[in-house]
Amino acid sequence: MNAELETIAQKMVSDGKGILAADESTSTIKKRFDAIGVESTEENRRDYRELLFRSDEAMKEYISGVILFDETLRQKAKDGTPLVSLIQQAGSIPGIKVDAGAKPMALFPGETITEGLDGLAGRLKEYYDFGARFAKWRAVIDIGAGIPTPGAVAANAHALARYAALCQEANIVPIVEPEVLMDGDHGIERCYEVTEYVLRVVFGELYQQRVALEGMVLKPNMVVPGKKARTQASVAQVAEQTVRVLKATVPAAVPGIAFLSGGQSDEDATAHLDAMVKLGNLPWKLTYSYGRALQAAPQKAWSGKAENVAAAQAAFTHRARMNSLAALGRWSAEQEAKKAA
Ligand code: 13P
Repeated sequence: MNAELETIAQKMVSDGKGILAADESTSTIKKRFDAIGVESTEENRRDYRELLFRSDEAMKEYISGVILFDETLRQKAKDGTPLVSLIQQAGSIPGIKVDAGAKPMALFPGETITEGLDGLAGRLKEYYDFGARFAKWRAVIDIGAGIPTPGAVAANAHALARYAALCQEANIVPIVEPEVLMDGDHGIERCYEVTEYVLRVVFGELYQQRVALEGMVLKPNMVVPGKKARTQASVAQVAEQTVRVLKATVPAAVPGIAFLSGGQSDEDATAHLDAMVKLGNLPWKLTYSYGRALQAAPQKAWSGKAENVAAAQAAFTHRARMNSLAALGRWSAEQEAKKAA
């Protein structure tokens, strides 16, 4: 086993720290900027990400690593410092999204396959030279009438495992992200069933492709009902069901599990993580790898205005601190309320 990979994977999930997913593709960040009335220019994207990476307390205390989009990995801050250096100076690890997105899968209507394996070995080499020490690949599994199908789950799991193998050969820790979406009106039981199936298939493929579990991080969804489901679940239920499915499917050799937020509210994402950690007796670390649940508040506070940078950094730092407490099982509604004080 490659000791460098193990060390990086452990750092990514070290106590009270989690990952900032700031790897929105050009089209996704445009959607986020549209919502706050900001034009998605290269400069605005740079300014926004620079303010996050210059949030000292958040980056030093709560953020173990940042997932970047290709553009950001190559970008320089206003004063000419590479953005990657800002992250490194804070003691955080730069990472890179390497998938090319989920595309409609041929002969599987309503399902997608994540692309990006062609030429990946070469790109990983370049990313390593830019300072990236971990990577991310997201497979998307939707729940609906007759889906997911075994064919689409198998294809996505195979691609995830091939990606993970290529990463490890390039000395880069793979974040393996099979996301079961929370769109739709299905109940929590259906999410459980699909998540269990997907994780079983994914770990089977990781084994076939010789991926060392000690040198990876899993990024799964939580077990939640669909957003449009009539019956929503309590925090305790989500925590119990999510831990149950992970214990049933994720080997203890995996050092850590860093959840995606997937469209949960900021506070739900924090409360769910906290409740899981409080259950205790877990074979792996649990933490966050949130995109929206860490960035919705700072984006709103910033709204593209230079005079709002400090307020945006405060909003980001607050969410990062709340999630850090959650990863330690020490979050509470009272802590959350301190924000206004
Ligand atoms: P969300 O936390 O917004 O789901 O994003 C995390 C991520 O990286 C999805 O791939």
